[in-house]
Amino acid sequence: MEKQIYVYYEEYSSVGELPTAFQELVEQAKEATESAYSPYSKFNVGAALLLDNEQIIKGNNQENAAYPSGLCAERVATFYANAEYPNNAVKAIAISAKNANGFLPVPITPCGSCRQVLLETEERYGQEITVILYGTQKIWVIPNAKALLPFSFDKEALD
Ligand code: THU
Repeated sequence: MEKQIYVYYEEYSSVGELPTAFQELVEQAKEATESAYSPYSKFNVGAALLLDNEQIIKGNNQENAAYPSGLCAERVATFYANAEYPNNAVKAIAISAKNANGFLPVPITPCGSCRQVLLETEERYGQEITVILYGTQKIWVIPNAKALLPFSFDKEALD
């Protein structure tokens, strides 16, 4: 038996085209890159979560000399939100990334561990999380974390 999975997503070419609530979330995700601790990769990632009480929670990657001890921006933001606001569902997450040349032109996509955490957060609160992946040339809006499966990170974006 053959089966196929289709994924619906939207592509935008600038922040101004996004629904208003997501414009602010992307701006906060961009701002969050400023406080990343990334002395090893020099790759700053920022994440901003929108909670169901309309509060925005920011996070960024926090690295460590013992490499696996560091954590991605998505999990820093999600775990902080879940720790501080355990009764509020997460409605959306915006993610942005910056290297020495500035914000990346194409979106980066969350790693497997972050996807797993986002999936469980969706299930925990019974609330789909809209995933907004920011790049200066294109922005993807994906309706839920489960739908991230076919999206991968193009390493050439780092050049
Ligand atoms: N990183 C994130 O924070 N989120 C992602 O989606 C991709 C990668 C971080 C981990 C590490 O600190 C640096 O970016 C380089 O991989």
